[in-house]
Amino acid sequence: MESVLNFPGEHFSRKGGELHLGAVRLADIANKFGTPLYVYDFDRIRERALNVTKAIKSVTNASRAYFAVKALSNLSVLRLAHQQGMGMDVVSGGEIERCLAAKIPARDIIFSGVAKSRSEIELGARAGIGCFNIESPHEIELLSEVATLTGQKLSIALRVNPDVDGHTHRKINTGPSDTKFGLSPDLARAISRRVLSDNKLNLRGISCHIGSQILDMKTFATAAKEMRVFASELLEMGAPLKHIDMGGGIGIAYKPSECGSVPIFDDWVSVSKGALPRPDMDLYLEPGRSIVGDSGLLLTTVLDIKYGEKKNFVLVDAGMTELVRPAMYDAYHHIEPLVHSENLKLQKYDVVGPVCETSCWLGEDVNLGDVKIGDVLAVLSAGAYGMTMASNYNTRPRPAEVAIENKRVRVIKNQEKLAALWADELTLLGD
Ligand code: LLP
Repeated sequence: MESVLNFPGEHFSRKGGELHLGAVRLADIANKFGTPLYVYDFDRIRERALNVTKAIKSVTNASRAYFAVKALSNLSVLRLAHQQGMGMDVVSGGEIERCLAAKIPARDIIFSGVAKSRSEIELGARAGIGCFNIESPHEIELLSEVATLTGQKLSIALRVNPDVDGHTHRKINTGPSDTKFGLSPDLARAISRRVLSDNKLNLRGISCHIGSQILDMKTFATAAKEMRVFASELLEMGAPLKHIDMGGGIGIAYKPSECGSVPIFDDWVSVSKGALPRPDMDLYLEPGRSIVGDSGLLLTTVLDIKYGEKKNFVLVDAGMTELVRPAMYDAYHHIEPLVHSENLKLQKYDVVGPVCETSCWLGEDVNLGDVKIGDVLAVLSAGAYGMTMASNYNTRPRPAEVAIENKRVRVIKNQEKLAALWADELTLLGD
């Protein structure tokens, strides 16, 4: 018996009641590699990266989607996305180094990031990255100094805050003007004059990023309109703008009921294209979650089951240290047992992790049928902002990551070794 689970996509299926990803039985992966474990479907990531590249190339040949490295930064994932034509959008010196370690050419990297240090700017400049997305007058001075030091002409885009509400969770909404992100149009105007008078800086574009996990296209359309108005003004001031970067933010399905409302890349591109004041200008996008989010899941084993007076708890071997999104944003992640239970009792459980924090939970009121100690659960849509936000709290090593590609399963990161967690600590008190 084979049935397509249909959530979060056709790369998932149940065959004989057993959950499969990329046509591989997840129980076999859990047995072989242990849990907690991140599993990614590389065929699905390839397809997503290729789709966004194809969609954006319909605008102009130099239009490009830059993968937001912070979403999932494993070197193999960066290479996979780059091979499909994506550039890299980074937010730290560490992410620049990571891309270089993945052998991504520096010119394919753009550097966003809300506060860049001088050494990070120098690192980017010396490496020869493609563009700096600038967020403050101070950054312009740093860039100008670094350009003088290195004798380079540096390409920049101004990150504008278009004051558009992303209508998403408060903690991932970056478009309104009361957030720390970007430059107000007034400040951006003043900076443009300063940049245009500096022959070491090339004002190549403007950028924005209004937030993450956005499902409503109207929000992007409003931002695109604001950006077009501003870009036209800068062109009139004589700015040699070549591109408009509309950031990332397009959402994925976390709940089965959201499957029908997930926007497609073609629509995102055609709405974002509205930001271009001239047809010969290039469009940039910076998707992260939409490339990797529904390709990844977290496998976790049931360690214990507790029946409380008010709630029942399934205690698992992954928690806020492996996937912090539920603790941090009250985020919903759909949880499925690997083996479908025939006797579905209407027993509901909170799925909670082992960390000593009440917020260490993965799911609330989850119907798990006749779940038993030792069963393995899959926490879905965990490919983006899962592993990259994992921590070592409670001295827990971060988990291994494996990739499925053409039915082959390979380790792309080993589980951290415990001793590595204190290797850089110095003991002051002797033996
Ligand atoms: N560009 C910039 C400048 C960004 O700040 C971000 C995400 C992106 C692109 C990619 O956005 P995406 O396409 O992935 O939505 N940790 C949160 C998400 C934080 C997003 C931060 N910026 C979460 O787990 O939901």
